[in-house]
Amino acid sequence: MSYGRFNNPVTATLAGFKDRFRKQVLQERFTSDDRFDGKRVLITGANSGFGFALAVEIAKRGGDVTMACRSQIPQAGETARRLSGSAAIEMRECDLSILSSIHDFVEDLVRDGVTYDVVLLNAATTLPEARRTECGQDEMFLVNYFANFILVNLVLTRGILRSDVAQPRLIFISSDSHRGASAVDYDEFGSYFEYGVAKAIANYSYFKLVLNIFATELHRRLNHDQISVQVNLICPGPVNSNIIKAAPWPLRMALRAIFTVIFKSPANAALPVVYLAASDDFENRSNQYLHMFSPKEMDEKVYDAAEGERLWRESAALWKRIDPDALDV
Ligand SMILES: NC(=O)c1ccc[n+]([C@@H]2O[C@H](COP(=O)([O-])OP(=O)(O)OC[C@H]3O[C@@H](n4cnc5c(N)ncnc54)[C@H](OP(=O)(O)O)[C@@H]3O)[C@@H](O)[C@H]2O)c1
Repeated sequence: MSYGRFNNPVTATLAGFKDRFRKQVLQERFTSDDRFDGKRVLITGANSGFGFALAVEIAKRGGDVTMACRSQIPQAGETARRLSGSAAIEMRECDLSILSSIHDFVEDLVRDGVTYDVVLLNAATTLPEARRTECGQDEMFLVNYFANFILVNLVLTRGILRSDVAQPRLIFISSDSHRGASAVDYDEFGSYFEYGVAKAIANYSYFKLVLNIFATELHRRLNHDQISVQVNLICPGPVNSNIIKAAPWPLRMALRAIFTVIFKSPANAALPVVYLAASDDFENRSNQYLHMFSPKEMDEKVYDAAEGERLWRESAALWKRIDPDALDV
């Protein structure tokens, strides 16, 4: 049985509150020179919260942005263009809970000849209970972890990440809540089972741990003697986003009040991610984890090479089982 760091929203919120006051080690390194001129950036889950703020800030800094979203098309893109003052923002549909939508999204990029310097894997969902998707997988498992495995493998195999530039960047938006989650449970991996709100909260941190193990294994596979792709991770800290929108309403009201008063605005929370995506400080560096602006070690389970290898193998096998268009990876 897998378990996460938190099993109730109050401890999770209090941990976020404490995080706000941590020293921000690299903050002074981030300047107006950290720009994206001539670069294309893909952001998943960019219609809302923190992903939306990222789209605006990156476009302001000269980036050509694709917002990959399942909702608010085209309104979110129009708002992002207005707020950034940049016309270089497009929206494309990608629902990460539907396998055919992920394939269609990638094939449309191939057809249109679009490639990226930076891919930001940002989308995630928090649900109050298990929810079965079309392919039979639990929605949180799929969106928060497994769709990232599929999308990243398609992006790499179909030439969506630029291979003609030095060190394109894959950046995973994670959470410090991954710390203390249990090791991957392969008995329940890829199986659907019912659960309620406590397990859903625990699963959020558990799936972030799984995501971090995957990102670290990906880094190992892509970078041998030298760094060819920067595969980095970041926790944006506590953000007043829409992440609690599916919580039961009395809890949602209480958390919304706390989020509004003590959590960071999405625009502010986006800044360390922009730094990680743009700065020369990360040249020749991969498998770095920032907690806001502070470099940290991840949970020690993340660095276990045997665990990474096994997660990759089990994920590749699951992909084959549930998706007729799965690749051999
Ligand atoms: N908020 C925090 O305090 C905090 C702390 C640490 C890490 N994070 C991480 O930050 C990232 C962004 O979250 P947020 O706080 O900005 O929450 P948010 O406002 O709820 O944004 C989540 C985004 O993911 C998208 N998404 C959900 N399910 C999707 C699906 N099936 N297909 C495509 N997109 C989907 C949402 O789209 P819809 O609008 O259509 O649902 C939305 O755009 C997440 O990875 C989260 O884990 C957040």
